[in-house]
Amino acid sequence: MHKVTSEELFQRALKVTPGGVHSPVRSFKGLDRAPVFFKQAEGAFLTSVEDKKYIDFCQSFGPLILGHRDPEVAEEVHRMVDTAWTFGATEIYSLELAEWISNTLPFMQKLRFVSSGTEAVMSALRVARAATGRSKILKFEGCYHGHVDNLLVKAGSGLAGAAASSSAGISAEVAATTVVAPLDDEAKLAEVFAAQGKDIAAVIIEPLPANYGLLVQRQEFLQKVSELCKKNGSLLIFDEVISGFRVGLAGMVEKTGITPDLVTYGKIIGGGFPVGCYGGRAELMNMVAPSGDVYQAGTLSANPIGMRAGLVTLKKMQRLDGWNVLEKRTQKFTQSLRDGFAKKGVPLKVEQHSSLFWIHGNTSGTIRTIEQIPANQGATFKGLFLKALDKGVYLAPNAYEVGFVSMAHTDELLAEAAQIIVNAVE
Ligand SMILES: Cc1ncc(COP(=O)(O)O)c(C=O)c1O
Repeated sequence: MHKVTSEELFQRALKVTPGGVHSPVRSFKGLDRAPVFFKQAEGAFLTSVEDKKYIDFCQSFGPLILGHRDPEVAEEVHRMVDTAWTFGATEIYSLELAEWISNTLPFMQKLRFVSSGTEAVMSALRVARAATGRSKILKFEGCYHGHVDNLLVKAGSGLAGAAASSSAGISAEVAATTVVAPLDDEAKLAEVFAAQGKDIAAVIIEPLPANYGLLVQRQEFLQKVSELCKKNGSLLIFDEVISGFRVGLAGMVEKTGITPDLVTYGKIIGGGFPVGCYGGRAELMNMVAPSGDVYQAGTLSANPIGMRAGLVTLKKMQRLDGWNVLEKRTQKFTQSLRDGFAKKGVPLKVEQHSSLFWIHGNTSGTIRTIEQIPANQGATFKGLFLKALDKGVYLAPNAYEVGFVSMAHTDELLAEAAQIIVNAVE
């Protein structure tokens, strides 16, 4: 009997979906291969339609800090499926998660659940504009904040901080409401603030930029961002959609000691279900409808299955001291990658922060900006990715995406994966 293949499914998908995918990076674009079609996931593993098993370092791009279908989360999800799917009314499940977050993270005085990271960011920006009466948002080159119109921009030419849209379909007027600054450059940031500070409603930053490689920032730089915001009356928004509940319980707020005005979350907060969240200072969040006049709503917001999956995930991580466990495991794993690359004499470097890692070809010092990413990053990654894939390791299928280690990745499994990845390098 003929068994369906990923290639056949991709051809079918191309007929009904743009590029055959529902989110661009899933498509294996530039990798000259049809994407693998998966049918099942468990722990650290994915199983393809061809019944091939892969060690998964994509982990759905970050939500699955416990791994796929963690048994405790699964039990709670099953219970919730048997209880209610959605209410569209007040209920106890979102209340419990909101209270847990607010009690655990004191800077989250008030919060609102939404259904994605993009929605969280979009809503936080609206609050910032309302609170300051200003229209501009400052973002950093190399940070991603979801597909919000005015944040799909890159540095343009002209005035300090001028932006140009990085996607078709975004009007020049909308792009012009965003100011773009480079990461890792206090002087440039001060220059941008000097020119446009009085118009900047908010600065949004991934305090641990992890969407264009892993560009760990200096504390002094982040401190300067915070300082300039305060001085200019602009709000500071930490976008912790990736780093939140990933680098530690209180994310980069805790790691940096900087308290932003608003924080956005997604991914881990829903334990693998579609949940986003924005929150922070109560007086800002009180501006949101119905208590204030910043409108924001959602039919499936605070979906109870995501609320329960999120709460169980966070409590389990806390109980197991999961963030420390993961940090140690990931350090060991990335060190064995480095050792393996060095032994083979290949010029590759591995960045690591908590349970995130990224392999790149810039061996000359720490990489903090997108300009420092080597031009051949795509080509380097392609060879490594395809060979590792053949041997059963699934990295996120893009040279600029980070890898995620979960609690389901044991030391033994990580040692095996490191060997496969090292062997995959020419
Ligand atoms: C830092 C950051 N912000 C926002 C988003 C958007 O989240 P979502 O894809 O859930 O809309 C992402 C997604 O990867 C992200 O990494």
